[in-house]
Amino acid sequence: MLRPTSFPRLLAALCLAISVVLPTSAQQRKIKVQQEFARAGQQLTRLLQTHPDVTKFPYSSRPDGSLKDMPSEWWTSGFFGGTLWYMYEYTKQPQWRQAAERWTMAMAREQHNTGTHDLGFMLYCPFGNGLRLTQNPAYQPVLLTGAKSLATRFDPEVGLIKSWNEFAGYQYPVIIDNMMNLELLCWAARTSGDSTLRRLSITHADNTLKNHFRPDGSTYHVVCYDEHGQVLARKTAQGAADNSAWARGQAWAIYGYTTLYRDTKLTRYREQARQTADFFLNHPNLPADKIPYWDFNAPGIPREERDASAAAIVASALLELQQYCPAPDAKRYRRAAEQILVSLSSPAYLAAVGENNNFLIKHCVAHKPAKAEVDAPLTYADYYYLEALLRYNQLK
Ligand code: GLY
Repeated sequence: MLRPTSFPRLLAALCLAISVVLPTSAQQRKIKVQQEFARAGQQLTRLLQTHPDVTKFPYSSRPDGSLKDMPSEWWTSGFFGGTLWYMYEYTKQPQWRQAAERWTMAMAREQHNTGTHDLGFMLYCPFGNGLRLTQNPAYQPVLLTGAKSLATRFDPEVGLIKSWNEFAGYQYPVIIDNMMNLELLCWAARTSGDSTLRRLSITHADNTLKNHFRPDGSTYHVVCYDEHGQVLARKTAQGAADNSAWARGQAWAIYGYTTLYRDTKLTRYREQARQTADFFLNHPNLPADKIPYWDFNAPGIPREERDASAAAIVASALLELQQYCPAPDAKRYRRAAEQILVSLSSPAYLAAVGENNNFLIKHCVAHKPAKAEVDAPLTYADYYYLEALLRYNQLK
């Protein structure tokens, strides 16, 4: 028989036991997804009002606080259409679909662009989401043409898709970000039956696996190759140093290998995503709110800027990665993603309506060494934040 005084203690022990056993999703949700989408809707309505012209894509803010737009050929220009599709996916309101259709078609001209490796970002975020949500037959050929354009940047002798045409005197630089473009190629392989696109993706991912990662799971930003695929140098463009761990580079690696595991079921890709996720989450320089500094080895930590865009990408990636992991790790990744989303949804990172040039997320860093968009909003932070909220909402 229980003594009256031991009952509260037993209840507390029971609650603790339940919280250890039950996944995050079965507990009280810490993020009010409906509320966050309502707020995002208010902010994005204003962003749309300030963008009547579909040739100027919302990108960021300038140091003087003014709005910075970019043309369609800039690597981030597909994210706005994708963001609008996520608003439509959650709300099912026709005005979001109409806006998404308009900003998606504005990117169609980029399907022929063979001068960039970023066609996955530029086309798959708007057209891929649009196709998934509406089955609009006009979207498929744009994506297939875009995939062929991207594949022209793959040299079989090197075994990788070339990122930039030149970097620091090297003629074949490949950046970790490039992993994000393989989803478009895998989709195109499935849709068209052209298995060379799938093989090309696997070759690129395997060579990146071999050459981009350090034993601790972190990734270099840029690896420079010769014409036979030999590594000439390991460098950085946007990080603090060649040997540092640039936060968004880690995020692209986690997300990119998680997506490629979904598409191929090759366990080496899932394991790389996990190793880099663990590097990110266990790093002593990761602040308690789980929003990283722009580089894990930035010299002035803790007086360095945070990069909320990297956090948004990682939150979304972890919510997919957790599905492929055994229970204890799955729970750990869900918890971390939830903690990131709690931080991003707080006034510290989420802009008040009408502020931040009407972007959702504050405090991102695009390119600190070039002093470009430092402590600024970035359109892709908004995209991955809404994507992560949708994934969080779908947790069973
Ligand atoms: N892909 C470029 C960046 O993440 O800034």
